Amino acid sequence: MRAARLHAYGPPENLKVEDDVERPAPGAGELLVRVHAAAVNPVDCKMRSGAQRAAVRLKLPAILGMDVSGVVEAVGPGVDGFAVGDAVFSSPSHKRMGCYAEYAVITAAEAAHKPANLSHVEAASVPLVALTAWDSLVDGTGLRAGEKVLVHAGAGGVGSAAIQLAKHLGAHVATTCSGRNVEQVKALGADEVIDYTRDDFAQRLSGYDVAIDALGGEVRDRTWPVLRRGGRLSTLVSGLPEAAKRYGPYLALVVVAAGVVRDIVAARLRGKRFHVALRKPDGERLAKIAALYADGTMKPVVDRVFPLDQIVDAHRYQETGHARGKVVIDLRA
Ligand SMILES: NC(=O)c1ccc[n+]([C@@H]2O[C@H](COP(=O)([O-])OP(=O)(O)OC[C@H]3O[C@@H](n4cnc5c(N)ncnc54)[C@H](OP(=O)(O)O)[C@@H]3O)[C@@H](O)[C@H]2O)c1
Repeated sequence: MRAARLHAYGPPENLKVEDDVERPAPGAGELLVRVHAAAVNPVDCKMRSGAQRAAVRLKLPAILGMDVSGVVEAVGPGVDGFAVGDAVFSSPSHKRMGCYAEYAVITAAEAAHKPANLSHVEAASVPLVALTAWDSLVDGTGLRAGEKVLVHAGAGGVGSAAIQLAKHLGAHVATTCSGRNVEQVKALGADEVIDYTRDDFAQRLSGYDVAIDALGGEVRDRTWPVLRRGGRLSTLVSGLPEAAKRYGPYLALVVVAAGVVRDIVAARLRGKRFHVALRKPDGERLAKIAALYADGTMKPVVDRVFPLDQIVDAHRYQETGHARGKVVIDLRA
């Protein structure tokens, strides 16, 4: 089968598209999916570069890709609820990945039926970011109707999903983005938009119940005072890639773990709560999310679509840090 494989940690050019990669076979509880589309996520770039290798060590050559939409080609033993020919989507765990390929084996428990109203390209853009937004807003911070939430980087993949999910939960949503994306985040439902190139969110906002931190560093530091006492901050970013540059991949893990403990304690001392978001590859939760896309409550936000041959360009674009929504690989192009 055709697949983009990473042979060595490093720049985007280390991803090589090959025509003779062995097609995987599904084991017990697994599905073989003919991939129609796969999304690119920032974590793919961090894994490719080696910045995350202390946390997730790749067995090279590796096929990256943690978002897929496609059609079930074969079903492994012990699978209920899925049959050959079903259109499915999933964000497989980092142990599986492998979505930058014509075929991928995914765990059935991590899959859900694709919403019929979404194309495969649109559906592939959803699972990882929506599961992360769910982890932050529903499980992590328990956002309630009537509360105020600040979503940083509202024009990005997670931010676009988080704005829509927060509105669905009945919250008042403020978000940060650059001027060119103001109309886009308003269209997603944001009540208040702060153009971070002209305005300081920390001056404009106060008394917030919840914040989603997509940036870390000084943005996170300046977000704490925006929260009321009892407020909750969910961070998406561990700071591992930055720490890896400074301390090397392994010591970085210790530094980051110590930082999380420090942030939890510091938050408690301020009467606030710190949550570290973790996308959970869970098919049941994804089915709940699928229902929100099926009835139009949430909409996919796809920025650029690349054929597999242009995987290097797709990674370069993702790494600009300014994608508007999702970057998707169309395996049928
Ligand atoms: N913990 C987890 O399980 C988990 C899951 C998913 C993602 N993440 C992490 O969360 C982070 C965000 O992920 P993502 O997929 O949303 O990334 P993304 O799609 O690449 O985010 C790009 C967006 O960030 C915005 N942005 C850049 N600088 C900004 C700033 N200073 N203030 C406000 N917005 C800014 C850009 O908007 P403008 O162009 O308008 O600047 C752009 O739309 C990444 O580090 C990712 O690895 C973690």
